[in-house]
Amino acid sequence: MHNAINVVILAAGQGKRMRSDLPKVLHPIAGKPMLGHVIDTARQLGTVRICVVYGHGGERVREAMTAADLRWTKQEPQLGTGHAVLQALPELEKVGAGKAASLVLYGDVPLIRASTLQRLIDAAGDTKLALLTAHLDDPHGYGRIVRVDHKVTRIVEEKDADDAERAIQEINTGILVAQTEALARWLPQLGNRNAQGEYYLTDIVAMAVAEGMDVVTAHPDANWETDGVNSKAQLARLERIHQRNIAEALMEQGVTLADPDRIDVRGELVCGRDVFIDVNCVFEGCVELQDGVRINANCVIQDAVVGPKSIIGPFARLRPGTVLAEDVHIGNFVEVKNATIAPHSKANHLAYIGDATVGSRVNVGAGTITCNYDGANKHRTIIEDDVFIGSDTQLVAPVTVGKGATLGAGTTLTKDAPPDSLTVSRARQVSLAGWKRPVKAKKE
Ligand code: UD1
Ligand code: CA
Repeated sequence: MHNAINVVILAAGQGKRMRSDLPKVLHPIAGKPMLGHVIDTARQLGTVRICVVYGHGGERVREAMTAADLRWTKQEPQLGTGHAVLQALPELEKVGAGKAASLVLYGDVPLIRASTLQRLIDAAGDTKLALLTAHLDDPHGYGRIVRVDHKVTRIVEEKDADDAERAIQEINTGILVAQTEALARWLPQLGNRNAQGEYYLTDIVAMAVAEGMDVVTAHPDANWETDGVNSKAQLARLERIHQRNIAEALMEQGVTLADPDRIDVRGELVCGRDVFIDVNCVFEGCVELQDGVRINANCVIQDAVVGPKSIIGPFARLRPGTVLAEDVHIGNFVEVKNATIAPHSKANHLAYIGDATVGSRVNVGAGTITCNYDGANKHRTIIEDDVFIGSDTQLVAPVTVGKGATLGAGTTLTKDAPPDSLTVSRARQVSLAGWKRPVKAKKE
């Protein structure tokens, strides 16, 4: 196990280009705020003490991130990345033996991977300054890594660089690991005499070199790991990369995807063996698809368990609290919510099954509705084993349909239906022989 590490997450930027009232770092990737991704990745590093530097809209950010162990520092006004980390310094110094290194991350760089960060932490060790850098064909806009005889000597920002420096293709991703004691020495000395009038965190590199400290570099496995989000277009691009990664991981586990570019997982999707997922399905929250499940096209499934060999969709919606047993069929335009359905039962067309307990081998006819809501309270419907429900039936809850019962098509069930009987509640059919259709009155 590694030493404990401080993690400073810069999240003070306003994010004007998002053109949104929502603070930038709360915009979601896969349904989770970008800042949440960064925090979750930081936690994978082991013992971490996380301090978030917030600014604009900060109260909303704090409310959204409820984990009790997070430390918060307000940066107001925002005078640069060096100034931002300086604000966090008291939180870092207060904790631990003072020996811990500090990792600087960004709330708007959501896809950074723990494996990359671990390499950077290892490179820094207990004595060095480690920078995460990348080589880009187009380095425009980034700080450049200046080397002399292969050794890093400083970072120069795009706006401060001369032509020769602008030609450097090795860029600063912004992510670094510094010894906390050294940060405490350097940060108060930063100046802002540069093109942007900001206190640059990047100026600590020259300070380290001046002290004779080793400055080392590590690189991300993929460049998208360090891409930041400043606009909705960049957010969408990273969302697609993230979803593609999830799809690759699912296929690696043996899941068959009709098209890995047409699945969205916003949460945790756990799959058994031989699961097939057709195009355009959305999974939210915690979803479990057990062995042999088939999800047909265009389904939306949230916080649900689908039992082995069950077939869902096309166009089905499983809402929270849905628990399906083995070989359950849920067909097109069927919505299930807070309901358990026992093995071999089917609801194949146009139905709503909410707040219900459904037994085994039940056939739910097309257009069946559990009327679970009386305008104030929710009530439960119980459908026992081997029930047959005719089409276009309303079950006004609370109500129980006894084992083996049959409900005639069009029934509005307001009282319990006894087992092994036919229950029908509709007007008897009549035919009037010789009845004539009305005809239009002739105009004079
Ligand atoms: C910074 C780096 C640059 C690097 C680039 C990578 C510095 C001086 N420059 O430049 O070398 O190539 O990132 O993207 O560090 N922030 C605060 N408070 C502040 C200023 C910034 O929290 O006072 C946060 C922002 O919300 C943002 C991040 O720090 O998430 C980076 O700030 P930004 O001003 O965008 O840095 P760059 O100019 O891109
Ligand atoms: Ca800037």
